[in-house]
Amino acid sequence: MVLSGKRILLIISGGIAAYKSLDLIRRLRERGASVRPIMTAGAQQFITPLAVGAVAADHVFTDLFSREDEQDVGHIRLARDCDLVLIAPATADLLAKMANGLADDLASTALLATDRPVLVAPAMNPKMWAHPATRRNVETLRKDGIRFVGPMAGEMAESGEAGLGRMAEPLDIVAAAEAVLDSGLKPLLGRKAVVTSGPTHEPIDPVRYIANRSSGRQGHAIAAALSTLGAEVTLVSGPVSIPDPPGVAVVHVERAEEMRDAVLAALPCDIAVMVAAVADWRVASAADQKIKKHPGESIPTLALTENPDILKTVGHHSLRPKLVVGFAAETQDVEANAKLKLERKGADIIVANDVSAETGIMGGARNSVKVISHEGTEQWPDLAKEEVAVRLAALIADRFSSP
Ligand code: C5P
Repeated sequence: MVLSGKRILLIISGGIAAYKSLDLIRRLRERGASVRPIMTAGAQQFITPLAVGAVAADHVFTDLFSREDEQDVGHIRLARDCDLVLIAPATADLLAKMANGLADDLASTALLATDRPVLVAPAMNPKMWAHPATRRNVETLRKDGIRFVGPMAGEMAESGEAGLGRMAEPLDIVAAAEAVLDSGLKPLLGRKAVVTSGPTHEPIDPVRYIANRSSGRQGHAIAAALSTLGAEVTLVSGPVSIPDPPGVAVVHVERAEEMRDAVLAALPCDIAVMVAAVADWRVASAADQKIKKHPGESIPTLALTENPDILKTVGHHSLRPKLVVGFAAETQDVEANAKLKLERKGADIIVANDVSAETGIMGGARNSVKVISHEGTEQWPDLAKEEVAVRLAALIADRFSSP
């Protein structure tokens, strides 16, 4: 039910296919969308605003300089108060105006003013569609991110000529509109992400290990949120007691070295979010057998050695993902330390949180973070870890959608 509750601005331009726009409006409304029509002067030669308004159950906008309409809605708001702009039928003339940024009537002005996705269903004589000028315009519009449905092959209403030029059928236009709206909901479709989460367990002997209080809640929630936005996610998780998030490929590991290997195996990818609380040190040589307590013998000391820094390795890798995000669990000078970490680790974003014991963040359900990047610092309010994850995934998606 992608169309349910969606607001569609339908631009009808002048062509005989405009008669199909009435059916298209019905089909869109049947699926729960609301349709606000704009008609060009040409469109009104084929169907009347009265018919369109009756089927759409909305006011039909026709005039850029209408005093009432401008006071009531205004062409800029008209162009933006919608989820999708659909042009059906789109004439060669309207495509040419769009490709060149002309705005001499309400339809072309709305198209220049909109910041919404635009889907075009062209309809014209096959020779007009095949003309080099139209080819150039369509190519320009595609590069501008405009989506097309049709035209189809078939006999033309007026001339009987055959070839590409018939407007797509209303149900095909509806399906294309659904696909465009769906891809808007999944801005990370086609992107690959690797996320680390949880603690690592560094063995002392077969039964003992060094661990930390990380629950994996934040990392798992981020993996789930990225997947919801369409990313193909590999979650490399240390030992946790929470379930695997749905729709995510999970690699379970124990030690930092295993975590690093699993992360490197997930490259190349577009996004890395390193949330795991990786142990900084491991026991230099873990015992093969359980270390026994013998009365009277001295207490063993643990010789530690440094673990690989996974974030730093990824941040400086030849296959470095386009976006590398790290976390910084600090107990003091949170922002200053996070800024240093941004540089040292080769990260684009550091999400810093104060994990002083009194905050209860480590292992808890909520998080209060600062998001630090080369563009500046944002303080986010105290949020559930799932909400932090959704916001972070949206911020990541934004980075991929802006040129
Ligand atoms: O240096 P620090 O441990 O504070 O850095 C935290 C960030 O680095 C986190 O994103 C964490 O997942 C990552 N990290 C890592 N490998 C390590 C240590 C930290 O990936 N060995």
